[in-house]
Amino acid sequence: MCMSKFGTLLDRVAVGDAPDISDIVALLDASGEEADALFARADEIRRACFGDGILLRAIVEFSSRCSRDCAYCGLRKAHRQIKRYRMSTAEILASTLEAAACGIKTVVLQSGEDDTLDPSWLADVVRAIKSGSDMAVTLSVGEKPQEAYALWRRAGADRYLLKIETTNPALYRQLHPDMDIDRRMECLRVLRDLGYQVGSGSIVGLPGQTLEDLAQDILFFKRYDFDMIGIGPFIAHPGTPLGSEGDGEIDAVLRVLATTRIAVKNAHMPATTAVGSLEEDHRLAALKAGANVLMPNFTPQPYRQAYEIYPHKRCLTEVSGACVPCMETMASAIGRCVNYGRGDSLKIKV
Ligand code: 5AD
Ligand code: FES
Repeated sequence: MCMSKFGTLLDRVAVGDAPDISDIVALLDASGEEADALFARADEIRRACFGDGILLRAIVEFSSRCSRDCAYCGLRKAHRQIKRYRMSTAEILASTLEAAACGIKTVVLQSGEDDTLDPSWLADVVRAIKSGSDMAVTLSVGEKPQEAYALWRRAGADRYLLKIETTNPALYRQLHPDMDIDRRMECLRVLRDLGYQVGSGSIVGLPGQTLEDLAQDILFFKRYDFDMIGIGPFIAHPGTPLGSEGDGEIDAVLRVLATTRIAVKNAHMPATTAVGSLEEDHRLAALKAGANVLMPNFTPQPYRQAYEIYPHKRCLTEVSGACVPCMETMASAIGRCVNYGRGDSLKIKV
């Protein structure tokens, strides 16, 4: 395709309310100077929406217990080789305070999808964080009954992350034998109706996934108008049924990230830990292809090493807090800075 034709294609996806799937696929298929133009356009839109500040979201992986069997995930319940843990309320509060002491104003509490998690216990944790600080609290604990989501919202939780992982129903079923894609989409609607800032996202490079599947993911993100969208590569975990598959390719991830930025504009999009955990750390490339968020890990040892969603996870041995100066360095390496704001959604007035 000549470059002026590619420029027209970029314009169409950037301005369209419901872009054509074939246009999205063409962007996802870009290479060489087309790919460079794709990343440049995404970077321009990221700057227009958010400026040059990179937001920091502290993540505390408070429990590795999981009741599901996602084919790709190291926390799946059939994986018996990992230590399961759940941090105490005091431990979670200490980690959150550590993040606050670094100037961070938002914490993501993440765990496996644990059927034994007591909703009122987590509500107490949220209340304790909210009463001791002005931090925004994001939960990422999977599919739960509406009453639990409502309880946590009343306790003060501001945001919720629930990745769709893939919107292809057949692939979804294959990867999640004990789950239902319609129920997951229903959870996302419920969360939005309860007033959460909602994040979703997908995994790129799943075995059997096509460019059309990824294009549908992007159209889904646009249709649901998510506040946050996390995109990362598939990383094969040897302790899972997909252990001998190849990892997702970084170039494909960057194209999905950039095309998503161009199509959806002002959602917060992290340079995910998975992007940093391939053979090389590609988070800088992601930040230059549309991402505006980094997620420093504040899970304390020995838990951090036990939360092995995928192998070779970045920042596994660093002490808590070490990621913050590292991220300052990353930001200045590309002429950007760290933004220590709460990073609320641009889509709503809070
Ligand atoms: N490779 C990449 N990402 C993974 N996740 C889980 N397992 C893997 C894997 N093997 C991601 C999912 C989940 C998030 C917490 O981690 O997208 O939502
Ligand atoms: Fe964690 Fe660099 S981001 S040490």
